[in-house]
Amino acid sequence: MNAQPLKGQTALVTGASAGIGVDLAECFASDGYDVILAARTESALRAVADRLAKTYAIKATPIAADLGVIGGGQRLADAITKAGLSVDVVVNNAGYGVAGAFDGSDAAGQLGMIDLNDRALVELTHIYWPTMLANKRGGVLNVASTAAFQPGPLMAVYYASKAFVLSFSEALWEEARDTGVKVSCLCPGPTVSKFRERAGTNKTRLSRTGEQMTSMSVARMGYDAWQDNKRVEVTGLRNRLTASLVSFLPRTMLLRLVRQLQSPI
Ligand SMILES: NC(=O)c1ccc[n+]([C@@H]2O[C@H](COP(=O)([O-])OP(=O)(O)OC[C@H]3O[C@@H](n4cnc5c(N)ncnc54)[C@H](OP(=O)(O)O)[C@@H]3O)[C@@H](O)[C@H]2O)c1
Repeated sequence: MNAQPLKGQTALVTGASAGIGVDLAECFASDGYDVILAARTESALRAVADRLAKTYAIKATPIAADLGVIGGGQRLADAITKAGLSVDVVVNNAGYGVAGAFDGSDAAGQLGMIDLNDRALVELTHIYWPTMLANKRGGVLNVASTAAFQPGPLMAVYYASKAFVLSFSEALWEEARDTGVKVSCLCPGPTVSKFRERAGTNKTRLSRTGEQMTSMSVARMGYDAWQDNKRVEVTGLRNRLTASLVSFLPRTMLLRLVRQLQSPI
């Protein structure tokens, strides 16, 4: 639990209809934050909002939004203003991946990853950043991935999109130093959720290399890291070790290794 009075502060969580986002929203709600839950599936958002509001006696507002379309972040912010709500913390969690070779891939799927994983994340951060700095509180929790630490042959755009999230988040962490605004980048490794199903990564060698973490344990690590203004949080010892080893490997060897891991079984 957090010692600060959080009553009246609101966290906007994107991708809060399933997976890690639901649990991130629960971490904020359990500490007394009101939450705004955004994703495309309204019925799922409403179910999560009802549960969190009842369990934690907070205000939970579901807002259906497609953040993968250009201007989706601004449309969501407009809906939030229209509902008379403000935002103290932005949790940029919505994202998806597509596995497979770049050659022959669907352009919309590839560009859509950049639009959701990066563009919407920057758009929402840009909208709420000035208010956070003026209020000297709140901040941003961005969800990247262990994919952020190296290029990813056979999942090239996803890995690059998460490298962007990590780089952007670390830069903002520095820009926010001594302002009271907190910035963290959560980098999960394999985590139980619908991600693999959509990404098509459930039949790669990587998917057979170890246990997936639960989405709640990942969310809890991200939430605690953000409360401590920890710049980067890689979930779990094994993922932390792998992420730190990457910089010691020759780049060509690393690329071949990741390609092997991303290859179908
Ligand atoms: N699971 C893993 O192994 C893993 C590992 C590393 C990083 N991550 C990252 O963790 C984050 C959460 O993923 P997850 O594992 O929880 O996956 P998930 O279960 O597939 O959840 C993804 C969430 O994003 C939302 N979303 C997808 N497209 C959207 C759009 N166009 N507009 C608005 N919301 C959208 C989904 O809701 P709707 O479909 O209702 O819109 C859902 O709430 C992602 O950024 C992912 O890259 C996951």
